[in-house]
Amino acid sequence: MITVNEKDRVFHLNNGRISYLLYVMESGQLGHLYFGKALNRSGSYLHMVEKAHRPMTTYIREGDLYTSYEHLRQEYPCYGTSDYRYPALEIQGGDGSRICKPEYQRYEIIKGKRQLEGLPATYAEEADEAATLEIYMKDALLGLELVLSYSIFRDVDAVARSVRFINKGEGTLFLDRAMSMSVDMPDAEFQTVQLSGAWSRERYVKVRDLAPGITAVSSMRGNSSHHHNPFLALKRKTATEHSGDVYGFSLVYSGNFLAQAEVDNYQVLRILLGINPFGFRWKLEQGEIFTTPEAVTVYSGEGLNGMSQQFHRLYRNRLARGYWRDRERPVLINNWEATQFDYVEQDLLLFAGKAKECGVEMFVLDDGWFGARNDDKRGLGDWKANREKLPDGVEGLAEKIEALGMKFGLWFEPEMVNKDSDFFRSHPDYILETPGRSASHGRNQFVLDFSRKEVVDAVYEQMYALLSTAKISYIKWDMNRSISECYSAAYPADRQGEIFHRYILGVYELHERLLQAFPELLIESCSSGGGRFDAGMLYYAPQGWVSDDSDAIERTKIQYGTSFVYPLSCMGAHVSACPNDQVGRITPIETRGNVSYTGAFGYELDLNRLSSTEIETVKEQIAFYKENRGLIATGDFYRLLSPFEGNFAAWEIADQSGSRALVTVTRLLSEVNGPYRRLLLRGLRKEQKYHVESRYLSYDAYGDELMQFGMMLEDKSSGQVIDGSGGCQDFLSVLYEVTAVR
Ligand code: DGJ
Repeated sequence: MITVNEKDRVFHLNNGRISYLLYVMESGQLGHLYFGKALNRSGSYLHMVEKAHRPMTTYIREGDLYTSYEHLRQEYPCYGTSDYRYPALEIQGGDGSRICKPEYQRYEIIKGKRQLEGLPATYAEEADEAATLEIYMKDALLGLELVLSYSIFRDVDAVARSVRFINKGEGTLFLDRAMSMSVDMPDAEFQTVQLSGAWSRERYVKVRDLAPGITAVSSMRGNSSHHHNPFLALKRKTATEHSGDVYGFSLVYSGNFLAQAEVDNYQVLRILLGINPFGFRWKLEQGEIFTTPEAVTVYSGEGLNGMSQQFHRLYRNRLARGYWRDRERPVLINNWEATQFDYVEQDLLLFAGKAKECGVEMFVLDDGWFGARNDDKRGLGDWKANREKLPDGVEGLAEKIEALGMKFGLWFEPEMVNKDSDFFRSHPDYILETPGRSASHGRNQFVLDFSRKEVVDAVYEQMYALLSTAKISYIKWDMNRSISECYSAAYPADRQGEIFHRYILGVYELHERLLQAFPELLIESCSSGGGRFDAGMLYYAPQGWVSDDSDAIERTKIQYGTSFVYPLSCMGAHVSACPNDQVGRITPIETRGNVSYTGAFGYELDLNRLSSTEIETVKEQIAFYKENRGLIATGDFYRLLSPFEGNFAAWEIADQSGSRALVTVTRLLSEVNGPYRRLLLRGLRKEQKYHVESRYLSYDAYGDELMQFGMMLEDKSSGQVIDGSGGCQDFLSVLYEVTAVR
């Protein structure tokens, strides 16, 4: 998958569907040639280098009025040369100089892919699944060695990149900016797509036109954030959901990030993705190594949906890992929205008992089970059962749940502490705070300094003690505030710029240690809902709580946006009570079920409070999900109608052989006497006859008809009540099962 033209020093990564081309410039720096649909010629491709003589330009060599880094597309641009765009690398040497000009030394091609120590990353299970090109560069004056790593995958149209810095010199170096990737696209005729929002409306799809200058999304909160996801896509203006060129850039990281598009004045477009350089400074002493997080770039010639399918395949199969990667996820019930902090064991057993009767497989006990945690002002940090609520401790409750025939899961918020807790009273110095300044709180809590090993150890010991004595099959790992006044008492002044990153490394380390000790533990990540829903967490937690907004109608948008990058198998989606806790909306239970099927399914309500008719529906939903969860987790996902653009949200999950598909159509508001509607399905076999079954429709049609004429959507009532069977109501969702007829 990697060929090298030794004469022209051109490197070509090619898996038959995509190509990534780079070369060594005469000056020794690396230049970018091409990224996109595969180019299958063997040759030098050097004619793709564009440069021109332009006034007001600084040139590299005396006597040469053509060669300037300002006008050359580069591979990993460094600050201080004749390039005036934002660089990928900024570094300060011992003499205070910030100029860096690394030169090409050699390359290595590796079968498969290296892991990144201490960091989440995609992987190859077998050596021929991926090939890795490592390019060694050196700045002799600084004594800096730089290794640019590119892995191309055989089965996915993605290139994973990261950079390793090694101080091989005598002095100390300071990395002020060390992006995971940079790519210079030859033109800027694109729009950017970002996933942005806030708490309870995470990952809304926003499309922006590019103009000269900067378009960026970022986080400086210490978590990847509800506000912007570590992802950016470029789409051709004419590209749609299912056609046209799209490039996706996703960072496998959970802390501060920057995703930036810069259009220069010659319409060249530079994409940078990596740790947010703002506030970042990493001291690199002699012999030390710094590795950036991994960035994954995807090319799709089949629109935004094509991009998503590539991300889904890679992240589901070669980023998620371990015991749960390929296993069917249990249907769970969580008590948070039903009880908040107010419960005792007896309530929980009644709650779980009813759930078991309906077919639920796991009971998850949320916040409030430990220490003096009767509200959100106290207790965080004391990971021992509150005996007034759980007289037999967590072990006792877990046993009782297991005796009901269910698995038991438990909520933690490992990174946080309330000042009113025994843990804080014993370790008041364990929080992140700046000396002499007050520390801001979020939800009355403070952030433990996970950049310190002894802090991570202390939390690990408490969690280990519980996990090794009680039968806990799952943990929900929450994180309910962002970091402020970031400063670690354990590090010297010149290492304070490292703390945000060291914090996240500590978070990763705790996950890793727990998984090493309890390999069958299922971790669901959460951060006040979706505040840290990123590819980094997916490496440890194969599923995550998408959002605290559990209203089905709101969720159509949130899950639709989330699906741009993240596979359904990782989206925690639950049916909750009505009126909904967040928006007060009342939606039919069928709608709540249909929307929640599109993920790791569960319930977030007390089933004892439902009517007997609703309970029957719940039983049917659970049975349906169990039958279909294999398809839901591994099928190809197609977004068909966007809730951001109209009154409908529609999506389809089709198995790869085209033998079965589930289509969910949610009409946001009722319409009276509306038009005839059809939905063009995807991923079916043209010549195959299918049976279409829904609450309102039952008929046979061929694949080509369903994909070219469309699947009919009308509910026969055209929105009016005629015979009681019509769908005359707001928030109506209909699920269509499309099954090949033998
Ligand atoms: C925020 C989470 O998103 C909720 O699901 C719940 O676990 C609460 N925290 C508990 O405090």
